[in-house]
Amino acid sequence: MRHFITLNDVRTVEFRHILELSASIKAETQRGELVRRLSGRMLAMIFEKQSLRTRVSFETGMFQLGGGSMHLGSEIGFGKRESVKDIAEVLSSMVDAIMFRSKNHESVVELAKYSSVPVINGLTDKAHPCQALADVFTMQEVFGDLRGLKLAWVGDANNVAASLLRASAKLGMRFSVAAPAKFQFKTDEVKELIGEDVTDGFEIELTDDPVKGVKDANAVYTDVWVSMGQEAEEEERKKILSPYQVNSSLMKSANKSAIFLHCLPARRGLEVTDEVMDSGQSKIVLQAENRLHAQKGLLVWLLNEANTKKILVT
Ligand code: CP
Ligand code: NVA
Repeated sequence: MRHFITLNDVRTVEFRHILELSASIKAETQRGELVRRLSGRMLAMIFEKQSLRTRVSFETGMFQLGGGSMHLGSEIGFGKRESVKDIAEVLSSMVDAIMFRSKNHESVVELAKYSSVPVINGLTDKAHPCQALADVFTMQEVFGDLRGLKLAWVGDANNVAASLLRASAKLGMRFSVAAPAKFQFKTDEVKELIGEDVTDGFEIELTDDPVKGVKDANAVYTDVWVSMGQEAEEEERKKILSPYQVNSSLMKSANKSAIFLHCLPARRGLEVTDEVMDSGQSKIVLQAENRLHAQKGLLVWLLNEANTKKILVT
């Protein structure tokens, strides 16, 4: 069974294929053609944390592909009411795929271990592969080929940054991370994230200097300083990360035609100013919309190509 828990679950050739599939499905949708590629299929979505984009994009995506989806929140009592094994086996007997946004990365791994349908990571404390998929899809729309382009991450080296590092290695981008030592990637972690599948052009730069980090960048990316589940560290994080705000002055150190990216939700006035969020360089709304298109590509690949199941719809 093929799952999508981190980007290391797909080879570069598959990653590129999902991006191409997403582009053709997006073009089709924009022409007003909704092809029922997942007719009769059901996606269960388990949320242990809040969400706007992930829920809406998966739900809309399944609907547009002719399938259905269901939202499962605290009512299923994940981790309390019954074992992960029982949840995985019961869901697998009724639905065709499971999307899981979990507090702990290990829970998604455990669910996948017992699931006989594909499991998609909808964000954990360690990774957000669906976000990185939509982000590189967005960058491809703006720039075309990404090989050799520089993506500059500023702020906490978190779950989203980890997935973007993996994506950069696969697609041959230069990835810089400007973060204070306490919230920077560790060398061992970087090695694990890069994995085996590296394309020429990939480079990684770790620095504590935001100006150096964004120098000549084609895209500048930031995210909240306090991710879901880290609320107890809020004061400390805000203090240590405050020199890493993305503002107009920092954007001037990037390439003149650089774009600004943020996975959202954003804390305007903290990690990024209103001026940057609302500037002509900002691609945040396109980036959010592309969650829908990229995940439709992912769902079609996972359900119709990577794992096939005969289904007759009359
Ligand atoms: N970017 C993202 O995953 O947004 P949500 O948390 O709203 O799903
Ligand atoms: N790093 C953030 C991303 C939200 C989409 C979090 O984990 O809360």
